[in-house]
Amino acid sequence: MGKMTLLLCLLINSFLMLISMSHATDLTPALIWGGDSLSSNSFDGNPLVRTSTSDFQKIVENKIGSALSPVVVFIKEKLCNEDITRTSSKDFKELNTIENIQFYSSVESSLSAFEKLSSYNQSSEEKPSSISDGQLIFTYVPDLETVVGTYKSLKESNQNLIGALVGESCIYSKTERRKRAAGDDKQSNAFIFPGKYKSRVLLYTSQPLVFMDPKLKTTKINLTMDNLVDAQDSGDGSRASPLIVSMKFNTEGNPNFKFEFITEYPGYYALKKIEYFKNGNASGTVLKPNTIIDVPSNFSYHCGPGANFTNKDGVSLFFNNVQIELDAVNSKFSEAYDCVGFMSIPILSGIFVTLIMALIMIWGISIIMDIRTMDRFDDPKGKTITISASE
Ligand SMILES: *[C@@H]1O[C@H](CO)[C@@H](O)[C@H](O)[C@H]1NC(C)=O
Ligand SMILES: *[C@@H]1O[C@H](CO)[C@@H](O)[C@H](O)[C@H]1NC(C)=O
Ligand SMILES: *[C@@H]1O[C@H](CO)[C@@H](O)[C@H](O)[C@H]1NC(C)=O
Ligand SMILES: *[C@@H]1O[C@H](CO)[C@@H](O)[C@H](O)[C@H]1NC(C)=O
Ligand SMILES: *[C@@H]1O[C@H](CO)[C@@H](O)[C@H](O)[C@H]1NC(C)=O
Repeated sequence: MGKMTLLLCLLINSFLMLISMSHATDLTPALIWGGDSLSSNSFDGNPLVRTSTSDFQKIVENKIGSALSPVVVFIKEKLCNEDITRTSSKDFKELNTIENIQFYSSVESSLSAFEKLSSYNQSSEEKPSSISDGQLIFTYVPDLETVVGTYKSLKESNQNLIGALVGESCIYSKTERRKRAAGDDKQSNAFIFPGKYKSRVLLYTSQPLVFMDPKLKTTKINLTMDNLVDAQDSGDGSRASPLIVSMKFNTEGNPNFKFEFITEYPGYYALKKIEYFKNGNASGTVLKPNTIIDVPSNFSYHCGPGANFTNKDGVSLFFNNVQIELDAVNSKFSEAYDCVGFMSIPILSGIFVTLIMALIMIWGISIIMDIRTMDRFDDPKGKTITISASE
């Protein structure tokens, strides 16, 4: 019985560990610096050492002492250790030159330690310009670059200024990153459609489209948003009237691509082909995709490896790291369906290993259940038990 309990405990334990590992907590790094109290720099960079909220509060209280020095708390919505240790920002690295800097790598809800400082006059400001004794300002920063500059300009108004940098959480979800990437128009080498045109289709690729036609002088052409000279939608996406998005580019050969979306099954738009027209020629050539592109309505389709539309003559149009959505709300991508299937190799091997473990456990349990206690005992006063061979 003991063995089985042990086995079960082990199993449950390992599952619990898996669950806890996959769950992100609100442990974030925290930095505090400045002030006039003398303390040496300390870098508690071990991510396994947790600092609880109450411990952190004591640290903060020690730092500010009884003088009620002004405090500015920089809050970054998402902040992880890597952001601080691997930042490439020169400005931020200047923090190292400030005395009395203390770094804690995983603090439980660090922000609340500051919110509990009731003797301070707390306020939240977007761009603080001055600060006085007894004041505590919370300010949200979009990136680490702005932190040091703001701190320095505030310090001019009060020399005892204490600065702190905390995060709200350390969770970057996949979809969020993708949505951000799509909204980031500054990425000049990305292709973000529709741009200034009107279209039901939202298309994003992380690099310009790569167009190849062996019949042109330049056989490999990068198509960027700057090359797009006209775009139009027609049709409604049904079988009878496919949704056709036509995109004209001003590069060599003046290619015009007509993307054809049809509803194959209810709730899915399929991009089955792209028609390519050269120099305004009325008859085009059909390019077929190398993967199935099904865009579910109210969801987006994402494919990291990209999609390559080709025909047998070597004409091809390649979309790198593509994301497509139809009728997107507010021109923002929704949750993505990925072309990389859910049953990936790690998942399959996980299931396989679990299956083997389960089989071993079932085998063990069945053996343990087969153990019988004795139903006859030896009586030392009586005769010894004899079991006849026929029994
Ligand atoms: C707190 O700050 C506000 C605005 O900055 C000010 O009006 C108020 O007098 C301050 N209160 C104290 C107790 O300092
Ligand atoms: C096309 O884009 C790729 C990567 O985006 C780049 O390496 C290449 O130099 C570009 N080619 C031209 C002709 O701009
Ligand atoms: C138009 O395209 C067709 C087929 O792709 C081709 O046979 C024909 O020569 C082209 N016409 C012109 C004027 O380029
Ligand atoms: C998509 O969302 C719209 C409103 O946002 C809703 O009316 C429609 O039923 C949704 N379609 C599907 C297939 O869920
Ligand atoms: C796309 O397909 C064409 C034709 O098969 C090929 O020449 C090209 O290298 C492919 N592009 C990529 C990025 O795989």
